[in-house]
Amino acid sequence: MIVTPVDEIISARGELTREQLIPLLQDIQEHEGFVSPAAMVAVANALQTPVSRVFGVATFYNQFRFAPLGEHVIEVCRGTACHVKQSLTLAQHLQRRLKLRPDGNAADGRYTVVTVACLGACSIAPVIKLDGEFYGHLTVEKLNALLDEVESGAAAAA
Ligand code: FES
Repeated sequence: MIVTPVDEIISARGELTREQLIPLLQDIQEHEGFVSPAAMVAVANALQTPVSRVFGVATFYNQFRFAPLGEHVIEVCRGTACHVKQSLTLAQHLQRRLKLRPDGNAADGRYTVVTVACLGACSIAPVIKLDGEFYGHLTVEKLNALLDEVESGAAAAA
């Protein structure tokens, strides 16, 4: 029998109870970056619970992702300070420019865009984080310039 990384994550928890469903899913996402259908089946088997229950719980909480992250991760702040400074316009622009699927991933795997409640940098709203770096006082024009830099490979050096 082939032991997968997900199997190892599950067995690392030792004695299992059904109350460990969410912590198990969190462990898997932390190690794998997302929760795959195969992982949900493995969790269901380990907890001796229906796959539909695992799927139902996983999809109920928006903390779980079901596809790998893109090459670049953009967090768009949708907190109050950013909202009043037009962060929705930025999010909608990213949606169009990057041709995002409903799960926030670009079809080419280059980008993942997620919205967050507050990035803790309200004084420079509207704010995004791109690959862990903060970019504030953004406009669509500045965002386009930033994405152009990413595409040319220059953003990492900025
Ligand atoms: S609301 Fe956007 S950083 Fe706080």
